[in-house]
Parts: sequence; C-alpha cells; structure tokens
Amino acid sequence: MEALEYRERPVGVFDSGVGGLTVAREIMRQIPNEKIVYFGDTARVPYGSKSRETVTRFSEQIVRFLQTQQVKAIVVACNTASAYAMDALEKEIDIPLIGVVKPGAKVAAETTKNGRVGVIGTEGTIGSGIYSSYIHQIRPEVQVTGKACPLFVPLVEEGLWEDPVTDEIASRYLSELIDIGIDTLILGCTHYPLIRKTVGRIMGDGVTLVNPAYETAVELKALLSEHNLLSPSPPALGENRYRFYVSDAAEKFKRFANSIIKYGILSAKTIPIEEY
Ligand code: DGL
Repeated sequence: MEALEYRERPVGVFDSGVGGLTVAREIMRQIPNEKIVYFGDTARVPYGSKSRETVTRFSEQIVRFLQTQQVKAIVVACNTASAYAMDALEKEIDIPLIGVVKPGAKVAAETTKNGRVGVIGTEGTIGSGIYSSYIHQIRPEVQVTGKACPLFVPLVEEGLWEDPVTDEIASRYLSELIDIGIDTLILGCTHYPLIRKTVGRIMGDGVTLVNPAYETAVELKALLSEHNLLSPSPPALGENRYRFYVSDAAEKFKRFANSIIKYGILSAKTIPIEEY
C-alpha cells in the first residue's frame, strides 16, 4: 500500500508542444482527482519529421525533468515519441509509464468489423509502423493502412479547425483510405482530435474514429488503480492542480492551451530542457 502522500503526487504528461493538451484534457475529465505536470517541448517541435534518435534523446531529457517534479507516473502524450522512445524510456525509469499508441491500437483492433483499419499521423509515427505492429499482436489478420498527414498539425495550430482549406486538404489525404473501405480510423496524432468533425464528415458515418487521447486516459486510470496510485481526493482548494512547463514561447502556449482547456491556465513556465 503506497503512502497517501505518494498517491497525491502529480502525473507527468509530455508532448512535443501543445498537441498533448488533448491528452491532458482527457485525463482532467476522466480522473479529475489527479494533479498534472505538463511539459510541452515548444522549442523543438515538431517531432513528427525528426529521427528516432533525436526524438528519443529529447524524450529522455523530458522524463528526467519530470522526475525532478516528483511525478508518480508518466504519460507520453505524443504519438511520435510513443512510436520511437518507449523502450528507451522504460529503461530510464521505474515508475509506471504509458504512451498513446498502445491504447489506441487496442481499441481499433477491438472495433473493426471488416478488418480494415486506417491510421493517420505524422511521418514518424506512420513510418515506424507501430500502430500496425500493436494491432497485429492482437489480431494478425487485420489490414492496417497508414497515411501521413503532415499539414494537419500546422492547420490545427493556426486554428483552422473548421475551414474550407482544412476540408480540401483532409479530402485529399483521406481519399485513399476511403477507397480501401476502412471501417475504423485511428487519429494517431495529438492534434487530430481537434479536427475530428472534419475528418468524421469526410470519412462518413460508416467509419468509427478512434481517439488515442481518450483511450490513454482510460488506460491511465486502470494503470494507476492497478498500482494503487489513484489519488483518493481532489487537490486542496487553492492548490495548483495543473502546472505547465515549456521550452520556449510560454505566452503563445498559454493562449493555445486556454483555447482548448476550460480550466484557466494561469501560467506556463519556460525551462532549459537541454540541461536535463
Ligand atoms: N505531438 C506530435 C504527435 O502526436 C505531433 C506534432 C509534432 O510533429 O511534434 O505525433
């Protein structure tokens, strides 16, 4: 049985920038007793076009930083970092660690009826074939088709969530998945839940969208419970329940964060992540 104080420690959540806030938001909704320390690597984003070695090195630095914040568990809230760095990070720490890829892959494998699953994500995530590997561990017969959609991240960050430009680009990216006749589509990048309406409209009612951000929060709750680490009560009134750190441009991060998270984000602090 863990000491109460230990269970009340925060969960560390990190991403290459703002995208992982879609994961933090799900954790806030599903396990509101939990405190969160969020780190967004705004100085070095994007990860999606970088090499495995670089993304792994960045992720290791962030995990070292989060450990200085006395976190009880870490969520890798970035699909690209989850695709590349999980093995290395598992070696680095001895607290529970969870990425976004496995939970999304599991639900997609359980969801598809016609055995045709699509995955959209960054070049890194799609190139790694990681979603396909996890799905095949559960259902080897499923046909998994990946499609990198590199323009979605800047469109989302420009706020063009519902816009003719986004419609046009999404139609082009998604046409081959429509032609294949997938019945399940994984939104395999942190930003994509923010354009799920557009993606859903283009794919049509016959396609179920899987949101790894949502599924990760479900799995995190189960993981914390399994380790007897669920916080038993909400943080005390006035306590800073959610803390945000970035590697650059804290004000810009704060503006974006406040546009997607309803709890007022009072401050985001810049830290020198290269030093960790
Ligand atoms: N957070 C990244 C992901 O989910 C998208 C943004 C980036 O390329 O860094 O893969």
